[in-house]
Amino acid sequence: MLCALVTSAASQSPQIPAKNPAATTQSAGAQVERKRLLAEDVFKNVEIFKGKDAARLIPAMDALRGLLGVDCTHCHTQFDWANESKPAKQKARQHFKLIEMVNREYFGGGNAASCWTCHRGQAVPMKYQRDEDAVAHATVAIQIPAASAELPAERVFKNIQRLKGVSAGRLPLVMAMFTKSLGVGCEHCHVEGMWELDDKPEKTKARGMLSMVGAINGQFYGGNGPVHCVNCHQGNVKPELVSGTPSEGVFSPAAATAQPK
Ligand code: HEC
Ligand code: HEC
Ligand code: HEC
Ligand code: HEC
Repeated sequence: MLCALVTSAASQSPQIPAKNPAATTQSAGAQVERKRLLAEDVFKNVEIFKGKDAARLIPAMDALRGLLGVDCTHCHTQFDWANESKPAKQKARQHFKLIEMVNREYFGGGNAASCWTCHRGQAVPMKYQRDEDAVAHATVAIQIPAASAELPAERVFKNIQRLKGVSAGRLPLVMAMFTKSLGVGCEHCHVEGMWELDDKPEKTKARGMLSMVGAINGQFYGGNGPVHCVNCHQGNVKPELVSGTPSEGVFSPAAATAQPK
């Protein structure tokens, strides 16, 4: 079934040289220059793969099935691969741009975030479920006088830099969300009771992550988006990078732009 699809995908399009794109040897300096066949030479509607080796496209498409737990037809009209009518294809292109932005802006151009980071083999990533026990615990720890609950957090607390404008009464919800999303206690980021101090690097890191989540939701969802800490962390301090299923950095900007040796 899969092989049939992949084969038909390839045979629908001009031939993609399997490995060694036409190599020409220049007699003079015995210099080898390879003419690369690029995705846009072979396929019709490529934006993400533009400028990349044509031969990369089908294996990458194949990997998408495992990363999202879907078939090719989730995103494509079968045998009409250039067709753009399925919303999932548009969304996938957006999310290619999302991981490129996140890795470039927040992870020094590395491969920290891939499709797998959020999707884990599902078309729709897990959502955060509010945990009432965690909220109750945070509410006791934080103790906001009822009269202050509606005030902006920065007027009630001492060192609010990212959550400005959020009402003070919501702070326990946010802190509970942090602990459940990362699978940690308050002490991971704070010295208990001395909440305003910035002495733990994890707290500073969390501020950077708040900016990143804001940028993702701003750029890709018009401001009020579904991406939260839980999407990448899924209860772990360090998001899962290697999955065992075909993530393998296929979509890292580094891998995607790698030149043939
Ligand atoms: C999650 C969505 C998704 C899945 C699943 C998926 N594709 Fe794609 N496919 C895309 C996107 C997005 C593009 C456009 C890439 C770009 O802009 O460079 C694309 C482009 C293509 C193209 C190039 C078409 C052209 O001429 O422009 C082919 C061929 C293709 N896919 C085949 C497949 C096959 C075969 C499978 C299953 C093995 C598959 N795709 C699975 C999203 C998907
Ligand atoms: C930061 C987390 C995150 C990353 C990384 C991410 N996604 Fe998504 N993706 C989401 C969320 C949240 C949704 C559900 C909301 C929506 O549809 O926009 C989603 C939805 C989708 C959908 C629509 C699913 C459906 O209902 O058909 C597709 C397709 C998709 N993502 C493709 C990708 C691809 C391909 C990659 C890697 C290039 C990727 N995503 C990386 C968070 C992410
Ligand atoms: C993943 C890290 C992280 C965890 C876990 C966490 N916090 Fe925070 N906390 C922060 C960050 C970051 C800020 C500052 C937000 C800002 O700058 O807008 C903050 C701010 C606060 C503040 C405001 C302090 C002030 O006066 O400025 C309180 C109170 C607080 N946290 C309590 C808690 C409690 C209670 C828990 C456990 C239920 C908790 N936090 C768990 C990262 C964390
Ligand atoms: C796009 C995926 C993604 C999202 C969304 C995300 N993170 Fe992270 N986070 C990572 C990755 C990858 C790392 C590990 C790499 C690193 O430490 O730089 C990390 C590391 C961290 C760390 C340091 C871990 C440690 O060793 O203690 C903290 C704290 C953290 N994130 C907090 C948050 C908070 C809070 C949110 C929500 C506001 C969040 N993250 C959202 C990807 C993400």
